[in-house]
Amino acid sequence: MILIGDLKSLPDWLSYRAGGKKIGFVPTMGYLHEGHLSLVKRAKAECDIVVVSIYVNPAQFAAGEDLSRYPRDLQRDLSLLDPYQVDYVFTPDDRMMYPSGYKSWVEVKGISDLYCGASREGHFVGVATIVLKLVNLISADYMYMGEKDFQQITVLKTMLRDLNHHTQIVSCPIVREADGLAMSSRNVYLSVDERQNALGLYKALCKAREQYQAGINDITILQGSMLEILSAYNVKVDYIAIVDSESLELESRAGEKSRILIASFVGKTRLIDNMALRA
Ligand code: PAJ
Repeated sequence: MILIGDLKSLPDWLSYRAGGKKIGFVPTMGYLHEGHLSLVKRAKAECDIVVVSIYVNPAQFAAGEDLSRYPRDLQRDLSLLDPYQVDYVFTPDDRMMYPSGYKSWVEVKGISDLYCGASREGHFVGVATIVLKLVNLISADYMYMGEKDFQQITVLKTMLRDLNHHTQIVSCPIVREADGLAMSSRNVYLSVDERQNALGLYKALCKAREQYQAGINDITILQGSMLEILSAYNVKVDYIAIVDSESLELESRAGEKSRILIASFVGKTRLIDNMALRA
């Protein structure tokens, strides 16, 4: 595992690619958990060279969000990565990514303003910009991303397609705790009581899926029963959206391609989750 802390030390990816090697890339903000590691495992199984990046990207945090207290522990991350025999771990810093005079930003119009983009101003411009910079620097064939951040995948697929980038996204399923809570670096913010309440997101999603599979496709009914559960768990809803899983447009009736996206606050912690309705 080679740690790369500056741009000059990035390898010559072209020589790998010319030699027929497939490069897999897993971008992260660190404080790794089993969700991140599932992406690393898949990349290792499918690629010859695996690169993981660890960088808490300030540009994707809106004003007043948790940038300054976002959990960081590089040594812990490196020990978690150790068993996977990752080839490179790239750990850029703010000076490298946004040097003074930095002026270029990537906007994927429309979709970046919906759902999480509506609540977190500038979030997806920050995400699109850093990910484009990273895939330019890393030149991966495949970028492994979690469906936990479902809208993020759609925004980034659109960006890579529109900008004729060769990197392809591989979407990977959400990894959950034993009781169903989606793993997230932000779960460390939760108190014991909040950790219990956070389960409301998964319970609400499961309830809606169960109702859909029992034949209910009325959005108001599905949302109504989710809101009941979320309120019983003391979860404050930011949005619930039942969307077409490709376009992310709101559905008028739930169907086989629908996905429910939820964002919420448990105490002060913002948590997101999502689920497909089909079996
Ligand atoms: P981060 O939140 O660290 O997530 C890195 C990758 O891990 C993302 O693709 C995310 O969807 C995936 N992931 C997180 N929790 C997961 C879970 N429970 N199951 C499966 N995958 C999970 O997403 C980001 O960082 C940043 O926005 C980034 C893309 C690195 C750009 O800064």
